[in-house]
Amino acid sequence: MLKITRILVTGGAGYIGSNCAYKLLEAGHDVVVYDNLVYGHKESLPENAVFVEGDLSDTAKLDSVFKKHKIDAVMHFAAYAYVGESVENPRKYFQNNYVNGLNLLNATVDNGVKNIIFSSTCAIFGVPENIPITEELPKDPINPYGLAKLMFEKTLDWYDKAYGLKSICLRYFNAAGADFGIGEDHEPETHLIPLILQVALGKRKEIKIFGTDYPTKDGTCVRDYIHITDLSDAHILALEKLMESGKSDRYNLGVGKGHSVKEIIEISREVTGHHILAVETGRRPGDPPVLIADSAKIKKELGWEPKHDIKDIIKSAWEWHSKNPDGFRD
Ligand code: UFG
Repeated sequence: MLKITRILVTGGAGYIGSNCAYKLLEAGHDVVVYDNLVYGHKESLPENAVFVEGDLSDTAKLDSVFKKHKIDAVMHFAAYAYVGESVENPRKYFQNNYVNGLNLLNATVDNGVKNIIFSSTCAIFGVPENIPITEELPKDPINPYGLAKLMFEKTLDWYDKAYGLKSICLRYFNAAGADFGIGEDHEPETHLIPLILQVALGKRKEIKIFGTDYPTKDGTCVRDYIHITDLSDAHILALEKLMESGKSDRYNLGVGKGHSVKEIIEISREVTGHHILAVETGRRPGDPPVLIADSAKIKKELGWEPKHDIKDIIKSAWEWHSKNPDGFRD
């Protein structure tokens, strides 16, 4: 067990960042959240975390956070995450996710902090050559969101060589489910599971199935869904590994099992007891047919083991959505 450290969590009011902030506090660490609240929710902030409202474009504020709070390590979640929007408005993504992210890296090295965990994505692989996706597969993102994340990963390689900044990049597959009273609540919502559950709640008429002619078992896209609890556990393990080994590394973070859109709808019907009207429509541009992680590396090297299956994921999400039908806006 690592000694108590003070972690700067950027994007700590977001869905994944806040869950990880809770997990860090549970593991005995101190947490300083830095978030501009553009997409995050104040309500998701853990009570025991210090909160600083700020933007990654504000270099003076970033620097003062490091100085005031004596940060030991950084977990960087803050980013815009709408893949479709990144295609329509790439500058927004390169500016915020890359350029502003660079301000954070510079403040990190300028303040002598040597360790950072970066929230990366399987979108860096684009349409993968092979399934399951191993860490070494070629990276060829098909949207600016994925490209900005890949640029950041590569920048971290150079910051390691030049400034000794050590990093672990965790490339998430499809995070879902709820924990610590925090579920998925994006505005607008584009993710499959929350949208399906909004249909079950009667807040939406139907779920559209984007494409039924993919080369998969039932023609719909297959994804690797990972419970937010398992995902945040991996962050604690990664932080411990990084601070003990002082060695940079990259891990794909998925369960290694795929579920099709139709299967997710079917399991949601079982879990919620609602019919959930599904309507087949055309493909959504930019969706790779199958994304499944090879999780051998993270299991072997970090001792990570996912504890929750797809039913647990949907059950926990359903519990949260039923209790919070209007999300954080009630
Ligand atoms: N889908 C539907 N109907 C919907 C919404 C989604 O059929 O109304 C389908 C999508 O086409 C896709 C699957 O459900 O096949 C999952 O879609 P999500 O939008 O929930 O998730 P994505 O796989 O598109 O996106 C996730 C992360 C991104 C990340 C991306 C990597 O949310 O941040 O994986 O490709 F970049």
